[in-house]
Amino acid sequence: MKTTILSVDKTVDNNEVYQQAVDILKNGGVVSFPTETVYGLGAIATNEQAVQEIFKAKGRPSDNPLIVHIGETQDVLKFASIVPPAAKKLMDAFWPGPITLILNKKPNVIAPSVTPGVETVGIRMPSHPVALQLLRKLGEPLAAPSANRSGKPSPTEAFHVFNDLEGRIPLIVDGGSTEVGIESTVIDMTVEPPIILRPGSITKEMIENVIGSVQLTSNESKSEAPRSPGMKYIHYAPNAPVLLIERDRNTIQKAVQSLQEKGEKVAVVGPDELHIQEADWYYNIGASYENMATHLYKVLREIDQSDATIILAVETDEVGIGTAYMNRLRKASDDKRYFSSTISENE
Ligand code: TXA
Ligand code: MG
Repeated sequence: MKTTILSVDKTVDNNEVYQQAVDILKNGGVVSFPTETVYGLGAIATNEQAVQEIFKAKGRPSDNPLIVHIGETQDVLKFASIVPPAAKKLMDAFWPGPITLILNKKPNVIAPSVTPGVETVGIRMPSHPVALQLLRKLGEPLAAPSANRSGKPSPTEAFHVFNDLEGRIPLIVDGGSTEVGIESTVIDMTVEPPIILRPGSITKEMIENVIGSVQLTSNESKSEAPRSPGMKYIHYAPNAPVLLIERDRNTIQKAVQSLQEKGEKVAVVGPDELHIQEADWYYNIGASYENMATHLYKVLREIDQSDATIILAVETDEVGIGTAYMNRLRKASDDKRYFSSTISENE
């Protein structure tokens, strides 16, 4: 299968591109499109065969549910049996935008593979103008996970999608770099208090300002059955191992030196002002938490192109989007930290 990339200018009405995407989707195919968070790989959410194409293209385990993307607020009632008042408040405050609400699903509407084994459905209305245009021209909701191969970081550029899925999907709609850079906040609204299953750029603090107290799930409690089925899968693993390290220049310099003495080629990922000269590569990831989140996946993919044998990733405080940033770093590192004592053990 040939994979075509077609660019759409955000400000121009680019009818032909949208029409091609709509035709493929109506014929049961899949199309990659940009959202404000990351690129998605969409299929019509009521077409079971089309949805199965998504799992095939990604190599994704088929028991992990997909998020349904809608173009109009009232579409939520096509798939959700009930919208609790607190969910309505979040929709009013943050849609269109990067937050997914888990709601009880209506029986027998959605394609079974979208929500395998669960009585709920995750729904969001993206704010990216290209995603919204596509959904509105199509007139049907799209089931869409991130458009990466399973186990790769989510794509924030059209060429990331191309690198992962070339030959496996017919069309990528290119709308430039995505703004947020990490996936949407996922919040379970079927429980009281609601639980944030995946932190994102709509933060706990922002949500609590609208509906009061909510809980943040701990991904790290591995003994517990995962609430969000996606949590049990390994995500975002770069080729070289990632170790978290505290934000302290002296500690990082010593770590770099010690690792290099052992023959490692060390890439450091951290904020601009820390720039560690001694590292084989220093990846500036931005100054604010927003910037760091925006650039994280792009940088992890860049490091995969280098010869780095180990990646040191500098930790941030867990406030605001810092929580989401650290959540993704933990997944990438499988929660491993650098300890100088561990390293010096064998010396
Ligand atoms: O920003 C995003 O959310 C992107 C863009 C494309 O919209 N999509 C995305 O989809 O990240 P995906 O499939 O890569 O991640 C969806 C996450 C998974 O961890 C999945 O387990 C969880 O949401 N999820 C989906 N439906 C769920 C449900 N009914 N109950 C619990 N978790 C659910
Ligand atoms: Mg994903």
